Amino acid sequence: MAFFVSVLGFAMVFLPLFAASSADLSSTFYSSSCPKALYTIQTAVKAAVKKEARMGASLLRLHFHDCFVNGCDGSILLDDNSTFTGEKTATGNVNSVRGFDVVDDIKSKVEAVCPGVVSCADILAVAARDSVVCFGGPTWTVLLGRRDSTTASLSAANSNIPSPTSSLSNLITSFSNQGLSRSEMVALSGSHTIGQARCTSFRAHIYNETNIESTFSTSLQSDCPFSGGDDNLSPLDASSATVFDSGYYKNLVNKKGLLHSDQELFNGGSTDSQVNGYTTSSSTFFKDFASAMVKMGNISPLTGTSGEVRTKCGKVN
Ligand code: HEM
Ligand SMILES: *[C@@H]1O[C@H](CO)[C@@H](O)[C@H](O)[C@H]1NC(C)=O
Ligand SMILES: *[C@@H]1O[C@H](CO)[C@@H](O)[C@H](O)[C@H]1NC(C)=O
Repeated sequence: MAFFVSVLGFAMVFLPLFAASSADLSSTFYSSSCPKALYTIQTAVKAAVKKEARMGASLLRLHFHDCFVNGCDGSILLDDNSTFTGEKTATGNVNSVRGFDVVDDIKSKVEAVCPGVVSCADILAVAARDSVVCFGGPTWTVLLGRRDSTTASLSAANSNIPSPTSSLSNLITSFSNQGLSRSEMVALSGSHTIGQARCTSFRAHIYNETNIESTFSTSLQSDCPFSGGDDNLSPLDASSATVFDSGYYKNLVNKKGLLHSDQELFNGGSTDSQVNGYTTSSSTFFKDFASAMVKMGNISPLTGTSGEVRTKCGKVN
């Protein structure tokens, strides 16, 4: 018992020194160094979403793909060049993630009000929240103070970003590797209430699988032929692609998940009851989604003097 207590004591005193420093993030991080930061980002996000609704979905996804690869450190934004290969060509990103021009535009507006202060990683976190709000989803307080990486990892991006062919157990493992629970995985997947997917991401699901409603799969096949049309788009939530609601979960219960991985959340397994619950209570979905977004945003941030604040999001200073 004494041994146990002393081990516990050791862990309590020393673990914080080694653990991810998400505790260093703060909602007031830019209150004095850049009081206009949040308003500047929000104004630019609203304008981008007004121009093209889907952009809000694309910005939300960028934050997710940033955080899952060695933490929320802006690594996804680094451009490849002759001597550097970043994450943009990873399987889950190539020909798929978008919104880099909008992020650059937001960054230049923020640089104009306070040069060298606001990180690209924080811009992604705030833009993700502001996008969800634009679609009528929940809001939350974004914790700030992330710094930007000076590196990126193509191999980590290839292995950490979940594939649309994932099984339920793959999905649970992929999120658990990032410190996120099964239930947080189900809540965060509700992001697929907005945005689009390419034919290549769901072709096998609509032609070769049985856990899909047949009129739904047939209707999708006209825009997603068996061969060709890889980049043709369909909404992830056909019931309301530009409204952040619980329509995604209602689709799943009706076997109308677009991706194989979506339907895995309601396919007779351990997550069925949570999906069912969200179909009848969008307020529970909103509450769980908001807290899971904060948790995802806390994945291994660089803080203090680690990393840097990039001047341009696509390039190390
Ligand atoms: C659970 C595992 C997940 C898988 C397997 C997955 C997979 C995908 C795939 C394949 C697409 C379509 C990409 C394309 O065809 O180009 C997509 C789109 C999207 N994903 Fe996920 N995703 C997952 C979780 C998430 C999470 C956690 C978020 C955000 C927190 C998210 C946000 C989005 C959004 C908003 C879009 C639409 C993007 C747009 O229209 O530009 N996804 N996802
Ligand atoms: C569907 O399955 C058949 C037979 O296994 C295979 O030849 C074909 O490539 C698969 N198609 C897709 C889109 O996965
Ligand atoms: C290539 O990109 C890396 C990472 O942004 C940067 O450090 C380096 O200066 C770039 N090289 C050239 C030639 O632009």
